Amino acid sequence: MLKSFLLEDWLEAHAEPMPEFPLGGSTGPVWTLRDLLELDGRSSLERMLESDVLYSRAAGATPLRQAIAQMQDVPMEHVLIMTGAGEALSHIFSAAVEPGANVIVPTPCFPPYIAVPEALGLEVRTYRLRREDSYEIDLDEIRRLTDPQTKLILVNSPHNPTGSVLDDRAMEALHDFAAERGVQFVCDEVYHPIYHGTAMASASRLANATIVGDLSKAFSLSGLRVGWIVESDERRRERYLTAREYCTVSNSPITEFLGEIAVRHRRAILDRTREVAQTHLKLLERVLKEHTGVVDWIRPRGGMTAFPWLISGADSRSFCDYAATQGLLFAPGDCFGVQDHFRIALGVGRDWYAVAMQRLEELLSTWLAVAERTLSGG
Ligand SMILES: Cc1ncc(COP(=O)(O)O)c(C=O)c1O
Repeated sequence: MLKSFLLEDWLEAHAEPMPEFPLGGSTGPVWTLRDLLELDGRSSLERMLESDVLYSRAAGATPLRQAIAQMQDVPMEHVLIMTGAGEALSHIFSAAVEPGANVIVPTPCFPPYIAVPEALGLEVRTYRLRREDSYEIDLDEIRRLTDPQTKLILVNSPHNPTGSVLDDRAMEALHDFAAERGVQFVCDEVYHPIYHGTAMASASRLANATIVGDLSKAFSLSGLRVGWIVESDERRRERYLTAREYCTVSNSPITEFLGEIAVRHRRAILDRTREVAQTHLKLLERVLKEHTGVVDWIRPRGGMTAFPWLISGADSRSFCDYAATQGLLFAPGDCFGVQDHFRIALGVGRDWYAVAMQRLEELLSTWLAVAERTLSGG
């Protein structure tokens, strides 16, 4: 059985009324349908209005697959369109199911990495991203966890929630290790190519990597529900396609049409996400640096989230509850299995992020006194 999705429950509980500064999610600057169509000129709206409102192809519409294949520098046949990276991950984990099989995933992580394979009866082995190691992956830990029953090793880079990044060489080393052992190597790249320092290459250059991507995160178009798998292994592709035929049949041709526009105009879209996330990262950094008695962090190297922690070691849920009363919505660390941390979005709120940071400043200035009062029951 699937366990409760604490993160979604928390965000849902605070969806209405929407807090003044919703910083609990992980997407980027909002695009309207008009903004997106305008990227492509007026005729695209006319073309969209002529779309047949029918099922699309299970593997995805050809123009969208071609655009993604060109972006990822892979043959079009290797690209399978999915209803978000969420569907992609579900099919990948389902295909790994065998008696006694295990999968290796990071912790903390996007919660489905653990909940979905567990519900499918797979043994889930986690490698830890430790703040004392700047959230860097310890490749030896993964090597030690791997045994003949391991079906899959998953990495997420840039990483949600920590913003850590796996360097190209470490990615290659892990890919090669998995290939030697005959283990599937999965790279979830939904935050690629949003880097706040050195940019990394897509893992799609690696012969045996399975890539999970989407338009929700770096592209910031979560309402399109477009994701994909890039897979060079034909047998695996067939399995994913069969699962999809049984499950969602296809995406909508309307959102695939819009998705293709987004991928073709990726430079403008990704530049906006990067610019917004980096501006906000600097604002957040300034506030956190002034409150080192209360919070600490590892500066994210990529992606659209930061994952600071309370230096008192206290559970961040009461901090997040209190912050919500002050109009600031963060995501409590227990949603990711690390209670003293909390997640702050970097990609949203171009119009109000600076004001939200002032509010955070006030919150951090008063938090110790508030926490003391709460503890003493005052
Ligand atoms: C690392 C990661 N992978 C996959 C997803 C799923 O995204 P979607 O289904 O919107 O494509 C998310 C969403 O938060 C995520 O953070």
